[in-house]
This record gives sequence, C-alpha cells and structure tokens, in this order.
Amino acid sequence: MINATLTNAELAARATKVLMNTYGERKLAVVRGQGIFVWDADGRRYLDFLSGIAVNNLGHCHPAVVAALKEQAETLIHASNFYLMEPQIRLAELLVERSFADKVFFANSGAEANEGAIKLARRWSPDPARHEIICFENSFHGRTLAALSATGQKKYHQQGYDPLVPGFVHVPFNDLDAVAKAITPRTCGILVEPIQGESGVRPATREFLAGLRELADRHDLVLIYDEGSAGMGRTGWPFV
Ligand SMILES: Cc1ncc(COP(=O)(O)O)c(C=O)c1O
Repeated sequence: MINATLTNAELAARATKVLMNTYGERKLAVVRGQGIFVWDADGRRYLDFLSGIAVNNLGHCHPAVVAALKEQAETLIHASNFYLMEPQIRLAELLVERSFADKVFFANSGAEANEGAIKLARRWSPDPARHEIICFENSFHGRTLAALSATGQKKYHQQGYDPLVPGFVHVPFNDLDAVAKAITPRTCGILVEPIQGESGVRPATREFLAGLRELADRHDLVLIYDEGSAGMGRTGWPFV
C-alpha cells in the first residue's frame, strides 16, 4: 500500500483549479511505479498497459535506470547544446552503430523530432517551391503546429487552430499508387509511420515501405520514418 497523503478526488479538485483542461477531465492520480505496475493515490495497483503512452520501455524504476539518472544528476544537471557532453556522444554512437543512420539529432519530444525532420526535408531542396510533404490518413505526428498539420486526422485539425501550416498533402496509408500520383514538382518529402500507432496498431506492408523508398530515391525526396510509437525496440526489434 502506498502511503498517499491525498486521494485521487482531492488531487483532481486541486488540479481543476490550476491546470489547463488540455487532456479532458482526469480523475486518477498516479503516484508510484515499480516494473510493470503503477499505484494510484488511493493505493490501488494497476498493470501499466499504457506505459506513459508506449514510452516506458524498461518499466518503472529499474535499478540500472535509477542509478544512471542518479549518477548524472549528481555529476552535471544540464549544460545546453553549446557544449559537448560525453554521454550525448556515447548515445549517438550507440544509435549509429545499431541503426541505419549516420548522424543523430536529439530532440525533447516526438513532435519536436518531426518539426526537425520537416525543416530538414524543406531545406534538402534548394528550390523553395519544393516544400510539400506527403503524409498519410490516420497518421499522428504530434501536437505542435506543423506536426499537427502533418497529422492525418480531422479531429485534431478542427479545433480552432486555423490556419494550419501549409505544405502537407494527405493520401491513404498503404496505397503506393496514391503516393505516386500525389508527387508533384512541389514535393520535397514523404512522412510515414511504419506502424501507425495512435489510430490503432496498423502496420505498413513491407512492399509499401520498399515502394516509398524507391519513389523517394527516384524523385529525390526525403523519406521520413516517424517511429514515435514503434521505434526503439518496442516491436521487439530496434527500427522495425
Ligand atoms: C507516431 C508519433 N509521432 C509523434 C508523436 C508525438 O510525440 P510527443 O508526444 O513526444 O511529442 C507521437 C505521440 O504519441 C506518436 O505516436
């Protein structure tokens, strides 16, 4: 039993007064986690299927993770990207070794990673007319304005944020012909989730992904994989 001093209901009442209602009404306060379990403020234990929306790959409070966090917090709390930091270089080396990539850009969130990728794709072409990115229906790419505009779900668009960022064209997922038809002299990239996560677990077919690679090579487009939900070993393998 967790020794909670405040109940779920008491915390919810406090939250209503001071937190913006961006995630709807929240009634459950999560106060502690261990491995695959979390506990709420009323002392109830849950099997954590949500895992912070599919991000706590190593569960809660694994001793090795706790030790690494503790060691870093006791060594250097933050230094900004104006300086080199050995752990950052070490992590980039590991990612390059174990992935297809040559270089790494670290971001704070999935949305920010996609913003970076969108900027990279637009900059890829020296011709400013080439700025459109082909995206997919039912995709999810994050809540910042460009990532939201890239997201292929109307329910996220129709919330009063207009005008959305221009330059995103949405076509049906797993439909290579639709992608081929959507490519124009304005296209600079293709943004795809190899497994669509937010709209259900919907994998792209191997033929579709291979076809996207081929189209991107043929038309000199940047092919962006958004593995916000599926990457980093969450399917059992890294980057699959
Ligand atoms: C595929 C995908 N891309 C991007 C994001 C946005 O990530 P973040 O919430 O870290 O900004 C998510 C979040 O669920 C996602 O599933």
